[in-house]
Amino acid sequence: FSLKKYNTFGIDAKAKQFAAVHSVAELQEILLKHANETKFILGGGSNMLLTQDIEALVIHIDLKGKKVIKEDDDYVWVESQAGENWHEFVLWNIENNYGGLENMSLIPGNVGTTPVQNIGAYGAEIKDTFVSCDAMKITTQEMKTFTKDECKFGYRESIFKQEVKDQYIITSVVFKLTKKNHKINTGYGDIQKELEKHHITNPTIKEVSNAVIAIRQSKLPDPKELGNSGSFFKNPIVSRELFNKAKAQHPEMKHYDVSETEVKVPAGWLIEQAGFKGMRRGDAGVHKNQALVLVNYGNATGQEIVSLSKEIQKTILEKFGIPIEAEVNII
Ligand code: EPU
Repeated sequence: FSLKKYNTFGIDAKAKQFAAVHSVAELQEILLKHANETKFILGGGSNMLLTQDIEALVIHIDLKGKKVIKEDDDYVWVESQAGENWHEFVLWNIENNYGGLENMSLIPGNVGTTPVQNIGAYGAEIKDTFVSCDAMKITTQEMKTFTKDECKFGYRESIFKQEVKDQYIITSVVFKLTKKNHKINTGYGDIQKELEKHHITNPTIKEVSNAVIAIRQSKLPDPKELGNSGSFFKNPIVSRELFNKAKAQHPEMKHYDVSETEVKVPAGWLIEQAGFKGMRRGDAGVHKNQALVLVNYGNATGQEIVSLSKEIQKTILEKFGIPIEAEVNII
């Protein structure tokens, strides 16, 4: 069974067995039936790079549905099943005038995988509006609710990438969103500039969403046209000592202060400075408008993309003394 359509990188890896589940009961049943087999859980396939065939039962989480589960005068609690497409979920909330997710418009993937790496963009992260998520323990099929605190969110981090990695399948997520007095957040990146183009001074959540969509479309490749997984690397957070050393040699280095002792450096800048932006090796390449994104021009294998990523990591380490690590899960 080819997984090409099930991963946004468009890698033609094969699964030994494949099953899509449409309800929590179905998920329970299949996990129980295949208790002794190796299983591989697949959500939106937007944050992984397949480098080989999967010798396992691939379970595609296709749980659908979204609804308001509680509300008061100011807020609404919205629950989405894991298999809902993230961007469609964001748009549905905006149409209902529920605010808080608009800065994260057009991020590829499904709702159920958003807590795993605490997705974020343009000054917002899901942890800002996240309430809880329900998840099934793979070995026992028991359901557990993870509160926001229990998720231990950090920059592209959560408990699901650490202590309980590969142990749970997230089945639904609850967000607390605003019904009025939306917290409009246009301070990040080019949002303000984009709004000015349209002479918008007091944007609605819809207008913020449109601005984010316009910026993303101008910089980031659409996975439907060009295979990719968004940012391939994390922006490295380094000690001030290491940063000062690198900066002494490259005074123009961009950076953001994280704390007194740590500094974040944009990996896209490092990659561009190292000369990789827009470069291509066979069908594997570095996107021409955003160096942080690796792309598949058609028939690249996962291995070819990994080789390119290793070459980039090695060059950045040699040139700047800064290690960068993949954000995407390499499988
Ligand atoms: N830059 C370059 N060259 C490039 C790309 C970026 O010099 O080719 C510089 C930019 O000029 C800017 C800095 O790097 O000064 C940061 O760039 P940008 O604002 O485009 O954001 P990013 O750090 O590259 C992060 C997220 C994106 C998110 C954007 C916007 C990570 C790993 N990536 O990218 O998230 O959309 O900010 O908020 O944190 C994703 O995770 O898949 C993703 C797309």
